[in-house]
Amino acid sequence: MVINVCVGSACHLKGSYNIISKFEDLIKEYGLDDKVVVKAAFCLGQCTKAVSVKIDDGPISSVNEDNIIDFFKANVLKEA
Ligand code: FES
Repeated sequence: MVINVCVGSACHLKGSYNIISKFEDLIKEYGLDDKVVVKAAFCLGQCTKAVSVKIDDGPISSVNEDNIIDFFKANVLKEA
């Protein structure tokens, strides 16, 4: 599974790099290193959703520091 985190300018301003490192922490915490990777992506075209996150070829979600844990549990833990 690939978690694509947008690092385009709008998303970058909203803290893409924090989101990437949070995802990396969560992946380690749940021992998913061999199943899930986090990648930086160019603008995903939905800047109003910053920070935009797309798992594999799925829909684009809006992720922030408040919802990242719920997002991770619902979309990564369940599927990985
Ligand atoms: S900058 Fe992230 S979707 Fe455009």
